[in-house]
Amino acid sequence: MKFKDKVVLVTGASRGFGREISRQFAAAGAKVNVHYNSNALAAQEAVELLTGNDHIKIAANIADTDQATDMVNNVVSHMKRIDILVNNAGVCEDHPVAESTF
Ligand SMILES: NC(=O)c1ccc[n+]([C@@H]2O[C@H](COP(=O)([O-])OP(=O)(O)OC[C@H]3O[C@@H](n4cnc5c(N)ncnc54)[C@H](OP(=O)(O)O)[C@@H]3O)[C@@H](O)[C@H]2O)c1
Repeated sequence: MKFKDKVVLVTGASRGFGREISRQFAAAGAKVNVHYNSNALAAQEAVELLTGNDHIKIAANIADTDQATDMVNNVVSHMKRIDILVNNAGVCEDHPVAESTF
């Protein structure tokens, strides 16, 4: 297994790309920290989809520096290290050209 026992933190992993990235790392043997902002139910579902054990979910609003710092410290405290960070969390706003004023 290519990522056996590697500790991975995937931000924005409760759904979308992050959920699938988590699934792929877990299938390759990694221990995945499924980060989310507020949707704990979706994050729990994402954890339950993962192959193997030792995966956890962790909440933080990463627009808040203190929460982001606490998130990293909590992962390191629980897992002892972070081998791989996937900085995926974000929002996508539509700006259709046809509706643009500039
Ligand atoms: N989908 C696209 O077509 C597309 C295209 C280009 C780039 N991207 C980028 O790819 C990444 C993933 O996109 P996606 O479509 O998979 O996203 P998504 O399905 O909307 O999921 C967004 C994820 O980010 C988390 N999140 C949002 N704001 C957050 C905040 N302030 N603090 C912490 N977590 C936050 C959400 O947590 P909760 O579930 O708790 O809200 C969720 O886990 C984003 O960075 C997006 O900008 C997407």
